[in-house]
Amino acid sequence: MGSFSRETTVAEIAARHPSLLRVLTGSGLHRAGEPEDQTLDQLCAAFGLHPAIIIRMLETAEARIPPPPPPVDLAQWADCPLGELVDHIETTHHAWLRRELPPLVELAGNLSAAHPESERRRELYETLAGMADELVVHLQHEEESVFPIIRDLHAGTEVRPTRCGSAIGGPIACMENEHERTVVALNRLRELAGGYAAGSSSAEADRELLQGLTRVEQDLLAHMYKENELLFPRALATGQNVRAGRPSTGD
Ligand SMILES: [Fe+2]
Ligand SMILES: [Fe+2]
Repeated sequence: MGSFSRETTVAEIAARHPSLLRVLTGSGLHRAGEPEDQTLDQLCAAFGLHPAIIIRMLETAEARIPPPPPPVDLAQWADCPLGELVDHIETTHHAWLRRELPPLVELAGNLSAAHPESERRRELYETLAGMADELVVHLQHEEESVFPIIRDLHAGTEVRPTRCGSAIGGPIACMENEHERTVVALNRLRELAGGYAAGSSSAEADRELLQGLTRVEQDLLAHMYKENELLFPRALATGQNVRAGRPSTGD
């Protein structure tokens, strides 16, 4: 993930990720079908905008692009009852994160303390620790509010109000927003760790950290992929059925 410059062209932006074009179309700087050989400098000059603003928006948008989805076979879960899917996520991914993240944060902290001259190690530790703190709250939020609502919706019983109320839409939007923040942290961690390249360090503790970070990234991506692509859409559809008086069976 590199930085954009005033000389970056529309074609180069599209080649980095098609979704980045939305920054330009949303700002009115570019429309589909227009020539893509113009630079950011040229586009912004035509609209009296400072390129630094658009460059910052592009960098923010790029940081939110998730890495390619992990090899999770969603079809395997498509017919799984919602309650069982929630149980699976809680007992597999939530339990795994609670077990694996704290020692990894501690290891990153120890390595940073042993190398006080390394700004990169300090930022890696702080990014990992910050993400871990946010995930503690996130998992608790899902287990205390989102998952109980989904279980009630699936069971067809009256939804017992949680601290987020009894509607499912708001809490899910909140969870999806937090997943985006996690993706930003994962992207930054990958960048700081040199892309998790094998053999990038000869020290055993460094290799242990890189391997741990790789496992955390893979598990978190699979975890969020199941929630974003399967659990949340099915829960929203079930909520709509319940509100419309249609049976929630089949979910
Ligand atoms: Fe989760
Ligand atoms: Fe989540």
